[in-house]
Amino acid sequence: IQRTFSIIKPDATKRNLTGQIVAKFEEAGLRIVASKRIQLTLAQAQHFYGVHKERPFFDELCEFMISEPIVVQVLEGEDAIAKNREVMGATNPADAAEGTIRKEFALSVGENSVHGSDAPETAAEEIAFFFSGLELVG
Ligand code: GTP
Ligand code: MG
Repeated sequence: IQRTFSIIKPDATKRNLTGQIVAKFEEAGLRIVASKRIQLTLAQAQHFYGVHKERPFFDELCEFMISEPIVVQVLEGEDAIAKNREVMGATNPADAAEGTIRKEFALSVGENSVHGSDAPETAAEEIAFFFSGLELVG
């Protein structure tokens, strides 16, 4: 059993798609073990996306991520990291497979509705950044 970290991004919360996206996680066999709606500060967004700070889209990405509330969650299941990335679909919705969250809901490569951890190390870091141990109810 593995845990991964997920964000339902501003483009999705703004369009009232939180429930439909959570349903996709649950249908895939992922269990929500923590969930909260928050609004990031610019400093938090810059820290979270620190690996991308040299990329040309960094400022745009951080401004987008603070533009509306987000929903941060911890998802648990067999191979949760890979399973979540499969349900999310490709980063660019134009490349995303049929039935994936990004195919159905994303607006563009930037406004792509969800984030999911890409490895066990990043999952652990991202979960610890947003949640205390007491908030994880397995
Ligand atoms: P995450 O789960 O969000 O990390 O997505 P990813 O792993 O599929 O993509 P990646 O880590 O390469 O990029 C992180 C995020 O940066 C993406 O999800 C997009 O929101 C954003 N992003 C990536 N490429 C572009 C781009 O060309 N333009 C803009 N505006 N944003 C981008
Ligand atoms: Mg990534």
